[in-house]
Amino acid sequence: MRLISKTRSPFIHQLFYRIPVFKRTPVGNVTKRHSGFVMCLLCLLVSISGCSHAVSVEKNKDQAVSAQKEAILLVAFGISNDDKLPAYKNVERLVRSRVPDADIHWAYTSHIIRKKLAEKGIVVSSPEQAVAKLIAQGVTRLSVQSLHVIAGHEYEELLAVLHRYQSEFTSISIGVPLLSGVADADQVIDILLKNIPERRTDDALILMGHGTTHSADLCYVAVDGMLNTKDPRAFLGTVEGHPTFDQVLARCRQSGIRQAVLVPFMVVSGDHARNDMGGDDPESWKSMLAAEGIDARPVYRGMTEVDDLANLFVDHLMAARSFNGALSLKDKRN
Ligand code: CO
Repeated sequence: MRLISKTRSPFIHQLFYRIPVFKRTPVGNVTKRHSGFVMCLLCLLVSISGCSHAVSVEKNKDQAVSAQKEAILLVAFGISNDDKLPAYKNVERLVRSRVPDADIHWAYTSHIIRKKLAEKGIVVSSPEQAVAKLIAQGVTRLSVQSLHVIAGHEYEELLAVLHRYQSEFTSISIGVPLLSGVADADQVIDILLKNIPERRTDDALILMGHGTTHSADLCYVAVDGMLNTKDPRAFLGTVEGHPTFDQVLARCRQSGIRQAVLVPFMVVSGDHARNDMGGDDPESWKSMLAAEGIDARPVYRGMTEVDDLANLFVDHLMAARSFNGALSLKDKRN
């Protein structure tokens, strides 16, 4: 009990599925008078940027770890083409290298992708279906890793599912998405900049992020600013959010860019990369850059194909799991 008392307040219990615990969040030092404000702040931080590396929901702390059956659930947006599978397989391989005996399961959050796959005879569970299956298999300790870039709509829907089934598990650990804070963004940018062998000396770098109507769209704006500070000839735009492609184009013009590599800032290199980024359609980024006299060469590599980037997701999973482990260790001693 003592291990968690420092990071827990009754207010937090009520707000986040009654019993979430926020690792690295100094709630224990905050007086009750300020708790309401702190909670709003936590809400914002978690939903916008996923500030903590581990959000744990745990139920019956007194159950011994040895009696628990653990499953790891990897939850991604989804990919409809089989040739995109290596990106996800890479994450699974790296999870297995850190948790050798892991019982790993997958779920896709995208209904459209699951439907497309079902038409090809490939069945992939939704998060809800996957969780229900794991309950039926007698899993008591659930470790979930979101393979999303930001804590946006998809991540929130995942949390809602886990909330619904919370009482069925002894503990649920949730690893937050890739960009869970400035430190993550910093690492992501550094790793990306070092892992584009296709980029020649005079090439600018243009990253294509997805973008969203969710407030977490701010993450992309932040990454673009940080990226551009580290490398003045590197820009990030998004398909459906901010920064917009027009903003990227304006800055390319200002910087006198003549050639560039186009790289997805996405977990997998999928339809957006193939069509909106590098397609031959006049509306693609490649074509619109060409119309400005900028020779842009597309690189079709999703972020999880780079081990160091995929490992950032695994780090988040491990942080969430080890926090739960700390609780269990204490229980053992009691
Ligand atoms: Co899209």
